[in-house]
Amino acid sequence: MNIDDAILNRFSCREFSSKQLTDSQITEILNVARYAPSPKNRQPWRFFIVRNAERKTFVKIFEKNGDIFCCADKLNEFNSENQTYKILNEADTIILVFNLYYSRTILGKDDPLFDVTNIQAIGAAIQNMLLKATSMGIGSLWVCDVFSHNQQLCSQYCPDGQLIAAIALGYPKKNGLKSFRKPLEDLIITKQE
Ligand SMILES: Cc1cc2nc3c(=O)[nH]c(=O)nc-3n(C[C@H](O)[C@H](O)[C@H](O)COP(=O)(O)O)c2cc1C
Repeated sequence: MNIDDAILNRFSCREFSSKQLTDSQITEILNVARYAPSPKNRQPWRFFIVRNAERKTFVKIFEKNGDIFCCADKLNEFNSENQTYKILNEADTIILVFNLYYSRTILGKDDPLFDVTNIQAIGAAIQNMLLKATSMGIGSLWVCDVFSHNQQLCSQYCPDGQLIAAIALGYPKKNGLKSFRKPLEDLIITKQE
């Protein structure tokens, strides 16, 4: 599959079949994350792979109440947390993505530039993985609904890091619907006279 096809065919997969992925497929997907650009070539991404026996511990974390306020109400957006947990439960594999170069841990204080640039790079690494998965016929979902359990996930899986996202992977149950995209002309900012 060429790059355009991977970009255009990727979709957020929210229904996975029970067909299992192999270890080597997961390795192939993780491997492309390494090639993303990063500030000062810091390569700040770290991954914890939740599969097989580890799933029990992961699911247990979500049985307990979360610890942060959800912004969905304020922004009048659909609160998707419960739905997302069901999807995570169904996915074959969940990749937890952390920023190991978190300013609070590395520099001892919050540094927005340091954090924002590292997070940008991790976004690029995640997109590499999603496109690779698409090219292999594997469905993926970029998930941030895990943040209500931020503290528990960090202490369990990456105590020095900052949780960035979870990536759910598995074979899609059906083809994804194409989601709406704003037309290009609406995205170009023109200079106001
Ligand atoms: C940073 C980020 C966080 C997201 N978090 C979630 C999530 O927690 N649950 C979910 O179902 N989808 C999540 N998504 C997927 C978006 O809803 C989806 O990308 C968007 O609706 C466009 O649809 P498409 O990916 O099928 O093109 C997230 C996407 C991004 C980039």
